[in-house]
Amino acid sequence: MQEADLVEARRIFRMAFGTFLGVPDPESFAADREYIFTRWRANPEAALVAEVNGTVAGSNFATNWGSFGFFGPLTVRPDLWNQHIAQKLLGPTMDLYAQWGVREAGLYTFAQSPKHIGLYQKFGFWPRFLTAIMSKGVIGRETSSIKYSALNEGERDQALRACRELTGSIYDGLNVTCEIRMVKDQNLGETVLLWGGDRLDAFAVCHGGEGSEAGRNNCYVKVAAVRPGPGAEDRFEHLLDAGEALATERGWQRIVAGVNLARSQAYRQLLRRGFRTDIQGVAMQKPDSPAYNRPDVFVLDDWR
Ligand SMILES: CC(C)(COP(=O)(O)OP(=O)(O)OC[C@H]1O[C@@H](n2cnc3c(N)ncnc32)[C@H](O)[C@@H]1OP(=O)(O)O)[C@@H](O)C(=O)NCCC(=O)NCCS
Repeated sequence: MQEADLVEARRIFRMAFGTFLGVPDPESFAADREYIFTRWRANPEAALVAEVNGTVAGSNFATNWGSFGFFGPLTVRPDLWNQHIAQKLLGPTMDLYAQWGVREAGLYTFAQSPKHIGLYQKFGFWPRFLTAIMSKGVIGRETSSIKYSALNEGERDQALRACRELTGSIYDGLNVTCEIRMVKDQNLGETVLLWGGDRLDAFAVCHGGEGSEAGRNNCYVKVAAVRPGPGAEDRFEHLLDAGEALATERGWQRIVAGVNLARSQAYRQLLRRGFRTDIQGVAMQKPDSPAYNRPDVFVLDDWR
């Protein structure tokens, strides 16, 4: 994808989802949220475009989380659906994973759509657990978290190393630090860090407001992770407090977070805290194995 493709890729993204979901004015879909420009800026090499007669017909974005990869938003111009264009984008997406040395990959899609499930199955993805996109109204909380944006350069490097080490202890090689850098570099929100002495206990990468993946008045937890082992539940609760404290400070009224339902302890804790599901989709995984979707894993993400 080139910079010159961005406007049309975003128009197609809105029109494709708006059409599929039956939005009366499809191009207004997710008008207060941004995925296309921001993901391209973060990693243009991972942004793919399909062209028909020299014009943009669709696009896809691959994400590199170290040993794990996911992709999306994948969209094709509605008048060109069912002409194998998505498959032309998915082949090179799989090539990127091979190039990056991704061990397992996943995606989030519409559980009710045989087309979506069938399309991704062709590329070796298998439907597994549901993923719930949940939210609650923000309640002011008292916490003492560290904000990534407030750190100096040396401290940032240390924080990124600690985040990588933490996620690696959940799933070998899992590394989501590109999300922390993206939020910082493009001013999309904030990353909060909870330290327990000199060990990182937990962190949450949050998008906030219009022009990010959160949308107006929202705080969206793009990815959050808690150090596993005894006390993980308490650390998770503190992290959620820190997220709500950040949202209060910034005037974001709802906190939105996704969780795979195979992470059953985290899911139940969100329910107890008052989160309710707004949307649910299915996680498809390649190969057909859990990766880090396990009952004792306190990770928030949804692979969108
Ligand atoms: C989903 C989307 C990207 C697919 O793009 P597309 O170019 O129409 O897809 P393709 O033509 O490459 O592939 C369609 C495949 O769906 C599968 N399919 C369709 N109906 C199916 C069914 N009932 N059962 C099983 N598989 C089915 C087939 O494998 C078909 O390919 P084939 O004809 O070669 O066998 C496009 O419809 C879109 O933009 N939708 C709105 C946005 C969206 O939902 N994005 C994905 C979110 S996860």
